[in-house]
Amino acid sequence: MRIAVFSTRAYDRRFLDEANLAHGHDLHYFDARLDHDTVPLADGFEAVCVFVNDTVDAEVIARLVAGGTRLLTLRSAGYNHVDLAAAHEHGLSVVRVPAYSPYAVAEHTVALMLSVQRKIHRAHNRVRDGNFALDGLLGFDLRNKRIGIIGTGKIGLIVARIMRGFGCSIRAYDPYPNDDVKDFGVRYEDLDTLLSECDVITLHCPLTPDTYHLIDEEALRKTKPGVMIVNTSRGALIDTRAVIEGLKDGRVGHLALDVYEEEGDLFFEDLSDTVIQDDVFSRLLTFPNVLITAHQAFFTEEAMRNIGQTTLGNATAFAEGRPSGNEVRVQDVLA
Ligand code: NAI
Repeated sequence: MRIAVFSTRAYDRRFLDEANLAHGHDLHYFDARLDHDTVPLADGFEAVCVFVNDTVDAEVIARLVAGGTRLLTLRSAGYNHVDLAAAHEHGLSVVRVPAYSPYAVAEHTVALMLSVQRKIHRAHNRVRDGNFALDGLLGFDLRNKRIGIIGTGKIGLIVARIMRGFGCSIRAYDPYPNDDVKDFGVRYEDLDTLLSECDVITLHCPLTPDTYHLIDEEALRKTKPGVMIVNTSRGALIDTRAVIEGLKDGRVGHLALDVYEEEGDLFFEDLSDTVIQDDVFSRLLTFPNVLITAHQAFFTEEAMRNIGQTTLGNATAFAEGRPSGNEVRVQDVLA
């Protein structure tokens, strides 16, 4: 298939080119993000391949289909950025990579958790600067702490397993409890109980209308004083302004993020030579107890290889007229 691949960096090309040896698709790489301005680049391409910060709303979908696109292949598990109803209406098939490496994301989650509370980010800078003082670097033992996992799918389950290894007690909230999680003694709670009892809250649910701003002013009124919040899922699960207020008055003791609700204007770009215009994000960077990575939780060799193979495998299945098993249908999502 002729595939227009948007939002590509050298690392995307490397893994897609490797995977394409087994598929032979005609891949055209664009650095640009897919959006209202760049959508004409996709004219004449049967398939379009996008990542998490591309714009795939109703207008872009209508334009893609008018230009001959029949398949949208996502290099991500999440599909909250795609207007599935519009895709359905226009007959555009959507496929994704449901699980490229839940271990990559779970391990990064734990790395953030450890780093922010043991102040590794600050310690690293201090030591490089010849400052070997420990003041301000006091952490706490994770052993015996209560970890609240919101969303116990593939990633949440692995985080639960890892944190059990640290001697933590695990609480979970998920409208669809997972027997594998219950099997090793994790207790499901309602959301309010989890918020009020846990020392660390880590988010592993998808972004949906139900989960938008799940952690907001009201939720922060229920959390333990000094709670740690970790989000490697989707930025808009957190109302960033509310969390900033929580950080200012100490209700939030630590915040570790791999995602941010307005990340589309920032992440995956080198903006080190420019003035950041996002004042909310800039405020976050001023807190000593906030650690942010730029949507890199997925970024391991193993995950990138799986993304390349599954993305092109999905396109091959579509071209051969057989299901890949990775289709995203609006009726499944609404079911
Ligand atoms: P999954 O589909 O295996 O699990 C998601 C879980 O969330 C399911 O158990 C589901 O029942 C639960 N859930 C649904 N609605 C909920 C709600 N209202 N409250 C609590 N739980 C709810 O997904 P997986 O693979 O574990 O991924 C989780 C999220 O991680 C994805 O939705 C994606 O947004 C994010 N992600 C982030 C990456 C990164 O690089 N930072 C990479 C990959 C995924």
